[in-house]
Amino acid sequence: MDEPRTSGVRADEPGTAGVRADEPPTSGMRAEVLRTAGMRAAGLVAGHLDGLAERPVWRPVPDDELAWIAGQELPETGRPLGALLEDAREHILPYPMGNGHPRFFGWVNSPPNPAGVLVEPLAAALNPSCAGGDHAGPHLERTVVRWLAELVGFPHPPGGGLLTSGASMATVICLSAARQRAALADGWDVRRDGLSGRAPMVLYVTEEGHSCLRKAAELLGLGARNVRKVPVDGAYRMDPAALRRMIAEDLDAGLRPFCVAASAGTVNSGAVDPLGEIADVAAAYGIWFHVDGAYGALGVLADDAAPHYRGLDRADSLALDPHKWLGVPVGCGCALLRDPGAARAAFSLVPSYLVDENAGELGWFAEYGPEQTRPFRALKTWATMSHLGRAGIKRLVEHTSGLARTLAAMVEQAPDFELLAPVTTSIAAFRHTPRDRDLDALNRALPYAVQVRGNAFITGTRLGGRDALRACFLHPDTTEADLEVLLEEIRLAAKVL
Ligand SMILES: Cc1ncc(COP(=O)(O)O)c(C=O)c1O
Repeated sequence: MDEPRTSGVRADEPGTAGVRADEPPTSGMRAEVLRTAGMRAAGLVAGHLDGLAERPVWRPVPDDELAWIAGQELPETGRPLGALLEDAREHILPYPMGNGHPRFFGWVNSPPNPAGVLVEPLAAALNPSCAGGDHAGPHLERTVVRWLAELVGFPHPPGGGLLTSGASMATVICLSAARQRAALADGWDVRRDGLSGRAPMVLYVTEEGHSCLRKAAELLGLGARNVRKVPVDGAYRMDPAALRRMIAEDLDAGLRPFCVAASAGTVNSGAVDPLGEIADVAAAYGIWFHVDGAYGALGVLADDAAPHYRGLDRADSLALDPHKWLGVPVGCGCALLRDPGAARAAFSLVPSYLVDENAGELGWFAEYGPEQTRPFRALKTWATMSHLGRAGIKRLVEHTSGLARTLAAMVEQAPDFELLAPVTTSIAAFRHTPRDRDLDALNRALPYAVQVRGNAFITGTRLGGRDALRACFLHPDTTEADLEVLLEEIRLAAKVL
């Protein structure tokens, strides 16, 4: 189905000329021109979001469109705004990833909250760097970081967090803080001395921990071989007794355990590790307790899931992605820190050209992470959270968690499906089990076969040594009828595989 032609944009519209070869690039963009084009862009945005549910969830980019999108040459002469919008309408908007659609259940990708979409152009128009300073951006960032911490019940000292591109970067920040703290406790400075000649630092995760944890460990020079995989129980939750044993063994071997990274909502099944028991082990050995709540931290807002999150408030750091369950437009992650000074110790480097005498006690955000120029992520996060309100966020979490439980019940009742893990958050992991089929091969092939049909979007994984399907619910408009469609789509796709 084509994108509705809501823009009415004409490429040759007077007053929307691009930059001519003989004029400087800064000239010629009068406010009136931008206002006219902006109204058209708003129409495109509304038309896109309005019609999403009636279009295919996803479709492959056809070859001719791919050639247009990927093969363009940079124009010698600048093009008018109207022409750019027309190109976007014709070649870009019809080929979304699919996550705006209520039957998109892939990975962990939410639809954009409309309030977040609304303010994106304002952030671009202001175009600040939120490295620090006395302007709206950094001040608003302090507010939304505090809101996020309060929302999930994480302790919030002043300056206790910062927004990031996503949880991968938040994880780098948190593990850097952990690494620096461990080194300083042992009487050396990893920033000055590097890692060589020291006992290898060891990080503890589970097989279910997100790949960003290992990536961070590799980036920080810890070495993947020093990332221990702690066994999980039957519900894919970290086994704290095994964690304790592994730390003791590593200490005996002369290694330096420095951090355990638990999950509050794994990507495979939405499992929440036993945070309180892990906090006990971390405290007993004096190691940093990090929680990856990128996707699932908000699950604490659902009353029946809240007990699973006991101990979250004891973590040293928490990664939480506003661009996941909350629906803040991509990208926005957040690193929350019990002791913000630990991140500052890991990153602060203020050359003379960046000294700000008026920065106050907390200094600049750029001192707490690797980014210097930082986008205005706070505006879309503020707009989304304000628009939903605490009650709206809780409703969203409970609605989507309820959908996962309903799907799990439907799967358990169906003779040709099997539930593979308990549901704690808004993810259900399961597989299709028709008779006389190679179930691993079938379930491995199913996600793409379902996706190309365009009626639902699901992704797969390996869970407990088996190929599995997983559905993640994040969309406020998904209904129970959509779950019926999903199971039927899987059956239909399987028949032709
Ligand atoms: C549980 C979990 N942790 C970490 C990440 C990484 O986050 P990001 O993609 O925002 O860097 C993801 C992404 O899906 C995730 O689901």
